Amino acid sequence: MAVQPALDQRHEADPDPETLTMDPKTIESRITSRTRAILPVHIYGMPCYMDEINAIARKHQLAVVEDACQAWLAEYKGRKCGTLGDLGCFSFQNSKHIPSGEGGAITGMNEKLVDKCHSYHNCGRSFGTNTGSGSFTRGNNFRMQHFQASILLSQFEKLKQETAHRQANADYLIRGLNQIGGVSPARLPENSRAVWHLFPIRYDAAQFNGLPKAKFMQALAREGIPCGGGYHEQYNDGLLDEAINSPGYKRLWSADRLKAYRESFKDLKGNAQVCATTVGLSQTLLLADRSAMDHILDAIRKIKAHSAELAKKV
Ligand SMILES: Cc1ncc(COP(=O)(O)O)c(C=O)c1O
Repeated sequence: MAVQPALDQRHEADPDPETLTMDPKTIESRITSRTRAILPVHIYGMPCYMDEINAIARKHQLAVVEDACQAWLAEYKGRKCGTLGDLGCFSFQNSKHIPSGEGGAITGMNEKLVDKCHSYHNCGRSFGTNTGSGSFTRGNNFRMQHFQASILLSQFEKLKQETAHRQANADYLIRGLNQIGGVSPARLPENSRAVWHLFPIRYDAAQFNGLPKAKFMQALAREGIPCGGGYHEQYNDGLLDEAINSPGYKRLWSADRLKAYRESFKDLKGNAQVCATTVGLSQTLLLADRSAMDHILDAIRKIKAHSAELAKKV
């Protein structure tokens, strides 16, 4: 009988609804013989619990690749996100804090690993310690243009200034939200500093007379405050089912295996809760002046005061 390649039935760690980032407690049960790396995402620019994540990685001899795409200048215990694991990844895509149209960067302190990445992005040409068997190793063309680099270099001062501005406004919002109740900021690791790609609010409908999140967002928009519903459960969008039902997947894995794999996404209860309760204020709001933060807080107080009537409206 042919041996089936592993289709790990539980491979996604679950976010903690209080922090919105990877819950270290959920990682170990997801590690299988095929796991090679842990990929914490500093979502919204909020640092993950890296000491715990790194300790689990060391215990199981796994690499840690930080997704710091939204976390330029975010700090965890005195160090910048993107320097806390084996490698860090950043994005220059248009919505990011320093965009250049497209592109990204990889950071790391391990010379060999960084040289490998350098070769990989340059058609596999040997670089530094990475010489492979001849002058080429595996790779592709992911090179950045000089034009993009100059756009990026000119944005570093802006990045520092805007980050400080966003952080000061976020601190103010956090204090105000904590007084209102039912609209809590996410919990951050001790001695860490988020940079707020978006500003997430954990919305508790029960404290707003059952006003559903969608209606809360509509009311916020009517008060002139643009917001979004955060991320949704993308594994329910249909793409995953398309793959599972494809002839290729069916050839490789048994029906039972595929069914168990599909079912495993139901285990992501933390993620379901995060998606159902997060409201995200856009990063550009945090670049406004202090009076705009007061406007946001006043609007939320007003919605809360009228939440019983709003909840009854169709
Ligand atoms: C957290 C996160 N990871 C990864 C990416 C992907 O980056 P890119 O679009 O540059 O490939 C993005 C941005 O789109 C992101 O926000």
